[in-house]
Amino acid sequence: MPLPYDAGYALCPCFWGRRPGRLVSELTRLLPSWQDLSVLDLGCGEGKNAAFAAKRGANVLAIDASRLALRNAVAAWPRVSNIHWQHADIREIELLPNAYDVILAYGLLHCLTSESQVLRVVADIQHATIAGGFNVVCAFNSRHQDLRAHPGFVPTLLAHDDYVRLYSTWALDHSTDTDLNETHPHNGIPHTHSMTRLIARKPSHDHPA
Ligand SMILES: C[S@@+](CC[C@H](N)C(=O)[O-])C[C@H]1O[C@@H](n2cnc3c(N)ncnc32)[C@H](O)[C@@H]1O
Repeated sequence: MPLPYDAGYALCPCFWGRRPGRLVSELTRLLPSWQDLSVLDLGCGEGKNAAFAAKRGANVLAIDASRLALRNAVAAWPRVSNIHWQHADIREIELLPNAYDVILAYGLLHCLTSESQVLRVVADIQHATIAGGFNVVCAFNSRHQDLRAHPGFVPTLLAHDDYVRLYSTWALDHSTDTDLNETHPHNGIPHTHSMTRLIARKPSHDHPA
């Protein structure tokens, strides 16, 4: 089955651009340093967030199910070391428990094909995060979706409050439900998505949230 963003990856050398996502930039205010952190970027696309973390000294595992995305990523960041690019479907791999300081799921979860898959992937990434570590989640939610620019794509939509509930035992440093207005370079159709954006910190053993 074609992946939802492959048409864009095929036509544009850098569909998502080179600047990190807003929440990834915001995370730098909460993290004193990225040096030697273990970062997992799930649904990394062309690697704008993975490269941002790696350039600051993190060791990054960047995973995407799209070979086209990874082709563009390798071409976009030829000189950034500390990134291991992996072609995999998140639903088919096992994440190590308590292995990552930061896990990014930036635009990934709404690409899954059922709510139960979203719940399982969120549980997996929470389990894979070390105590005191961060999850950064951006996902379309159920409030309002204009999908004219994405023909054939049927995203899985949870309510913003459902995402917040999934992180109810974590500390939420950022939690918003706002509109994203965007126009993709391959078709030029302006459109709007309602987006859940979360930065969540896993309780540390000493200081539960
Ligand atoms: C909205 S894009 C975001 C890309 C990147 N994170 C960014 O912010 O620029 C979502 C990405 O998730 C990938 N993806 C979708 N389903 C996936 C799955 N089951 N496993 C791994 N990656 C997946 C897509 O190929 C796509 O590159």
